[in-house]
Amino acid sequence: MGIEKQPFGKTSAGQNVDVFILANGNGVKVKIINHGATIVSVEAPDRAGNFADVVLGFDDMAGYQSAGNPYFGATCGRYANRIAKGRFSVDGVEYQLAINNGVNALHGGLLGFDKKLWDAEIVGENAVKMSLTSPDGEEGYPGTLTVVVLFSLTDANELRIEYTARTDRKTILNLTNHSYFNLAGGGTHYDHLMMINADRYTVVDDTAIPTGELRAVAGTEMDFRSPTPLGKNIDRAGAGYDHNYCINQSAAGELTLAAKVLDPASGRTLECWTTAPGVQLYAGNFLDNVKGKGGAVYNWREGFCLETQHYPDSPNQPDFPSTELASGETYTQTCIYTFGVAQ
Ligand code: BGC
Repeated sequence: MGIEKQPFGKTSAGQNVDVFILANGNGVKVKIINHGATIVSVEAPDRAGNFADVVLGFDDMAGYQSAGNPYFGATCGRYANRIAKGRFSVDGVEYQLAINNGVNALHGGLLGFDKKLWDAEIVGENAVKMSLTSPDGEEGYPGTLTVVVLFSLTDANELRIEYTARTDRKTILNLTNHSYFNLAGGGTHYDHLMMINADRYTVVDDTAIPTGELRAVAGTEMDFRSPTPLGKNIDRAGAGYDHNYCINQSAAGELTLAAKVLDPASGRTLECWTTAPGVQLYAGNFLDNVKGKGGAVYNWREGFCLETQHYPDSPNQPDFPSTELASGETYTQTCIYTFGVAQ
């Protein structure tokens, strides 16, 4: 039980990266590195008490810094997911971000938070606090931003991720964690039973930018209101699931169950709770021969993400919940991943 810090490796620029190992009284173990404030492993038990690593990742910094790293476990920012053509305005001033995903900006830019070395400090019995200052104008975003991500592991097997941030000038912000899960510990995720607590999702154009329409999931391949195998209708969802669901919140900012997943074979379950209004179900459509941890090779649809977030491209969609952060305000979001077992 408790937390331990060990050297993990070095960045290509020679900076030391540490790994923080959080363990609870049930044997659950979570490893987080301060490069990208990245979750690198989560060991969780199945119904027979056998532990498996249920997140995708790499063994070393070479993997995490490789061009083929699809944001495994990372903290994405400043703006997770997409901004149309990388353009947005704050108080009438237009800003241009790097275009790094077709015609759009994705996950904070060329050197997003996932590629930064964060300051890290052990706090309390089973928590690590990672902090970063992003200078005014970095990656095209206005305002000097200070961000803190607090990771903690409880004896209820909750991995809590608590974000806070402040700016000295009005800006936009949307932080998420980009863990890829596989509750079986490997193979396709098709048998995983997925429940998503959302009646609607954001319809997107052919560049994955929301049109503004929030469409009912009822009776469509997008409907996960009751547990449904992830693979059942996946081929009817374009290239596969890569969509933002509008979580059924009873009040803005209220911690709400976004999704619950069960791997029937192992009995492992994952609950995803969040204060954010949306969750991106991304079902690993672009995974292709990624050489991962311990000799594992990750292929198409062998991992899924539940990225808690504001809706994509919110800065350009006046009817979506606002992602603006003014100076003097504090941004707060919480995401909780809870690892359980069903008999
Ligand atoms: C996006 C996907 C993208 C993946 C990895 C997800 O958040 O929605 O389109 O391929 O991240 O970059």
